Amino acid sequence: MRQETFKFCEFLETPQRPKGYNGLSGFHKYWGKKPIETSEFLITHLTSQNEVVLDPFLGSGLIARKCLDLNRKFIGFDINPLSIELTELYLNPPSPRELKQAISEIYSSLKDDIKSLYGLSNGKNASHYLWNQGELSQVWIKEGSKRIEIALSEQDLKHIVNSKPYESTLARQPQFFDNSRINAKSSLKLSDLFSSRALRLIDLLSGLSSSQYDDNLNRAIRMILTASLGQMSKMVFAISKRGKGAVTNKIEVGSWVIGYWRPAVYFEVNAWNCFENKAFKLIKALNDIDDLPASQLAQSLPQLLNNDCNSFLRCGDSEEWLQKIPSGSIKLVLTDPPHGDRIPYLELSELWNCILGYQADYHNELVVSNAKERGKTIEKYNQKLAKILAESIRVLVDNGVLAVMFNARKKAHWDSLHTLEDSQEVLYVGCYPMEYSAGSVIQDNRIGGLKYDYVLIYIKNAHQKARQEIANQFCEIPGWLSEYPNKES
Ligand SMILES: C[S@@+](CC[C@H](N)C(=O)[O-])C[C@H]1O[C@@H](n2cnc3c(N)ncnc32)[C@H](O)[C@@H]1O
Repeated sequence: MRQETFKFCEFLETPQRPKGYNGLSGFHKYWGKKPIETSEFLITHLTSQNEVVLDPFLGSGLIARKCLDLNRKFIGFDINPLSIELTELYLNPPSPRELKQAISEIYSSLKDDIKSLYGLSNGKNASHYLWNQGELSQVWIKEGSKRIEIALSEQDLKHIVNSKPYESTLARQPQFFDNSRINAKSSLKLSDLFSSRALRLIDLLSGLSSSQYDDNLNRAIRMILTASLGQMSKMVFAISKRGKGAVTNKIEVGSWVIGYWRPAVYFEVNAWNCFENKAFKLIKALNDIDDLPASQLAQSLPQLLNNDCNSFLRCGDSEEWLQKIPSGSIKLVLTDPPHGDRIPYLELSELWNCILGYQADYHNELVVSNAKERGKTIEKYNQKLAKILAESIRVLVDNGVLAVMFNARKKAHWDSLHTLEDSQEVLYVGCYPMEYSAGSVIQDNRIGGLKYDYVLIYIKNAHQKARQEIANQFCEIPGWLSEYPNKES
């Protein structure tokens, strides 16, 4: 336990009330990403340099980057292919200068296509089309930082409204399931979610020759594309600004919220602008980081555990991957499993994965899904999570810590965590509530949707004294409980 770096005031500010998703944390809308300050606090206080941290539910991959920055070794698994590629980007990003140069070259090569898709008779490119019940209602252009509505010529109107239907030739057809909770239907096609213009541009961006750039740049370009897909889609709702009681004419551009809801009034945003904005966001985030240590990705687990490599990532089912880790080799398992039925990760990531050409392993996903056809029940979820937690304990060293971020509305969704209460190997130390950094990541917008998680702390084969040391360190966190949190029935 490293007590010397512990600063209580700093700690109160960050692990419980995070600042927000800035820099790299704000780049990609990975579902359910947790505030990095919480992970940073736990990694710093529960491990020393070169010790191994494991996250069997990697998600956005921000934790992998944090381990690299803090000089800890890291092992991460996730069943979502997008998660692994995004993590690889965070571990080995291109230089901001090279990325800026690449974006400018891509623009030069696509400039004529962008003009043919979005060009207007006044020589400008449209930046936004506002659609209302299938009718074109407004067209905007960008003038500096302002957006201006313009009057359309007959010719423009024909060009916009009569654009030829286009089916992507590069993306695979998405595999959606009937799930009303996320407004998904098995019949949903890419052309239902995107305009022909956007699909054409997505194809052009996906088809960029990969031989032109090195792996780090290619990965960055693919991740920028997935990060901008939501804003390129027909899922960007329009916000009518309300004055005192009355609706004014002012309409603002909303964003892709959750799932596949296509509002009747929506903005079709110039897809190139969406891509470029995300690219600039990533360039800025990379520019703001002073010293980015490079990752040495291990090819195998022994290479990570016995050699100089600092990270090991694999796409797949944690239940299988954990079995390959030797017992007693991990100092901290810091993880945030899917919480019952809160977020169906693979169903929501299908949009990204189909554009990238990945086929996700739906069968082995740990989740409770409203998509009946998937048969993802609470019972199966609890069985699988209990196995994964048991394996997580097996791989810990004695005095190693299991820190689980969790919350669920239904008592039954907590059952797998109850198995830890009976474990002979771990002692429960306590838990504290952790707020999210921004409302937009809650993504459980149902009535009664949870607004925070608990961080539950367990210690392996420790004497009461070691348990007490951790408890003493954490007990000043507001909301700290040495009992289990109350779960609603
Ligand atoms: C709550 S998210 C993790 C979010 C992460 N803490 C972050 O901050 O970005 C849970 C993750 O578990 C992954 N997952 C679901 N079933 C899995 C399985 N069987 N094996 C590995 N990962 C799985 C999902 O793809 C998702 O990325």
